[in-house]
Amino acid sequence: MSTDLPSSHPDAAWWRQAAVYQIYPRSFADANHDGLGDLPGVTARMGYLSGLGIDAIWLSPFYPSALADGGYDVDDYRNVDPRLGSLADFDAMVAAAHDSGLRVIVDIVPNHSSNRHAWFQAALASAPGSPERARYHFLDGLGDDGELPPSDWPSHFGGGAWTRVVEQAGPNAGSPGQWYLHLFAPEQPDFNWDHAEVREDFHTTLRFWADRGVDGFRVDVAHGLAKDMSLPLRSKPSLEILVDDGTDALFDRDAVHEIFAGWRSVLNEYSPPKAAVAEAWVPFTNRRLMYARPSELGQAFNFDLLQAPFDAAEFRAIVQKCLEEAAASGASSTWVFSNHDVIRHPSRYALPDGSTLADLEAWLLADGRVPAPDLERGLRRARAATLFMLALPGSAYLYQGEELGLFEVADLPASALQDPTWFRTQHLVKGRDGCRVPLPWDAAEPNFGFGGTPWLPQPAWFAGKAAASQDGVDGSTLEMYRSALGWRRKLQAEETLEWLSSPADVVAHYRRPNGWEVLTNFGAVPAALPAGVDLSKVILSSGDAPSGAIPAETTLWLTP
Ligand code: GLC
Repeated sequence: MSTDLPSSHPDAAWWRQAAVYQIYPRSFADANHDGLGDLPGVTARMGYLSGLGIDAIWLSPFYPSALADGGYDVDDYRNVDPRLGSLADFDAMVAAAHDSGLRVIVDIVPNHSSNRHAWFQAALASAPGSPERARYHFLDGLGDDGELPPSDWPSHFGGGAWTRVVEQAGPNAGSPGQWYLHLFAPEQPDFNWDHAEVREDFHTTLRFWADRGVDGFRVDVAHGLAKDMSLPLRSKPSLEILVDDGTDALFDRDAVHEIFAGWRSVLNEYSPPKAAVAEAWVPFTNRRLMYARPSELGQAFNFDLLQAPFDAAEFRAIVQKCLEEAAASGASSTWVFSNHDVIRHPSRYALPDGSTLADLEAWLLADGRVPAPDLERGLRRARAATLFMLALPGSAYLYQGEELGLFEVADLPASALQDPTWFRTQHLVKGRDGCRVPLPWDAAEPNFGFGGTPWLPQPAWFAGKAAASQDGVDGSTLEMYRSALGWRRKLQAEETLEWLSSPADVVAHYRRPNGWEVLTNFGAVPAALPAGVDLSKVILSSGDAPSGAIPAETTLWLTP
C-alpha cells in the first residue's frame, strides 16, 4: 500500500525549494482602516503576492492577543484576533491563496501562551500544587519567605525569567506566593511540556489549522520546550551560552525531539503531509538539523547567512556546510536575511564592516545616526546578497518589505515603541519595531495605502519605496525580486551546486546542475570575469549591467 502513504503524494516535497514570503499581519495591509493590518488586507493583496513569484506565505501570529509581544503572546491558539478578522476571514484568505497557487504556513507558539490564556488564568485562580498550576512552571521562591526567584535565569527581553504572583486561593490567599517561569515577557508564561494535556492540546491545534487547509507550520522557539526542572534548579545566568550535547538546562535538550516526532505523526495524517520549519536558535548545525529530520519537522531555519558579514569566503563556507548537513539529515536547507526579529538587511549592510550585534543595537539606540549608514551601499549589497541566495538549493524565506528595499526605520520616536525589549531593558535596547513598520503601498494615498493611521508611524522616505512607485520601473528592487523569483521558478534544479573557481577571492561563483550560474562580487571595485563566462548569457544583475567585469557588490545570474 505504499502508494497510499502521504509522503508519496506528488506534492509532498513542495516545501523543499519553496520561496516563502513572511507576512507580519499587523503591518501588511489594513482593510478595515483601524491602523492594524488584518487578514482581509492579506486577501486583498493576494494578486500582489502571487505576482511576486513566491510559492507560499507564512503568517506571523494572528491569534487573539494583548500584543505584549506582537502576537507571540497567544490567548487562544484556535481563533483569530477580532481586530485582525474572523475564522471566516481566515478561510477566505486560505482559499484566495490556494486559488492563486500559493501555500499557507502559520506560526505556532508552543513554548509559552499569554497570561490571558484560559489555562493560565485558571492557574492563577488556583492554589499552589493544583492541577491547574501543573500546565505551567510554578515554583516556590527561595529565601526564608520565598521572596527570591527559584533560579538565576534571565528573560530574553531583559530582567529575570520569574514573576511572583499574589495567591488568589488556598491558605495564603491575598499574600505573595509562588513564582512562574517566563523566558520571554512576564505576559508569556512558559508551558510545562512534561504535561500530557499540553502535548495533546498542541496536537489539537495542529489539526485545527491543518483541517482548515493550512499547508505548513513555523514553530516558534522550537528548541525551548523541554526544560530541566529538577530541583534544585541549575544556575544559568546567560541564555546565550549553550552546550552542544543536549544537556543544557533550558535549550535544545534531547527530550524536545520526542515532542516533534509526535508532531510529525500528526502532520503525516494529511496527504500531502503538512510541512514544518523550526525556529531553533541553536548554533551547532548538527544539533539544529535534528529538528529538520524527516521524522520531525522537516526543516529548520538557518540564520548563519543572516549573521555573516558580507564576505565571499564566509558566504561560500556557510553555504557549503549547510548544504552538506541538510543533505545528511534528509532536510533541505533554508536561507534567510531578514525577518520580524532582526534589523533589515539593507541597513545591516550599510553599517561599517565588522559591526557586532552590540554595535547594531547601539546604532539603533542612536536613532540610526551614529555611525552614519551608507544606505546606497547597504541596498546594493542587500540586492547582491539576495540574488546570491535566491539561486541556492533549498528554501528561501523572505520578509515583507524586503522586496521594496526597505531599510530599518531606526528613528522611531521612543513614544511609539512597543517591543517589550525596550521596556524590560530600561530603554537600553530599542528592540524590533523598526522592521515592523506598516508597509508603504502607494505614495499617493493616505498612510501610503496601508489603511488607517498605522500602529507604528511610517517615515516620509517610505514614499520613494512604495510598491506603486516601483511597479514596472526597470531596475527597482521590486522588479528585481519579481524577475528573480520568476527565473527561480523556471530554473529550479536538483538540490545541489558546484563551486567554480574565480581569479578574484572576492567573487563567489557557483553553478546548479542544469547550468544556471551565479557570480557575486563581494568586493568594492569591479572584479575580473572568470575565464569562460559568457556575458551574453546574463539574465539578471542586482546592479549595473556588466561590461567586461563584474560590477562591485553585484550578483549576476546566467542562463544555462
Ligand atoms: C520568536 C519570535 C519572536 C518572539 C519570540 C517569543 O523568537 O520570532 O518574535 O518574540 O519567539 O515568542
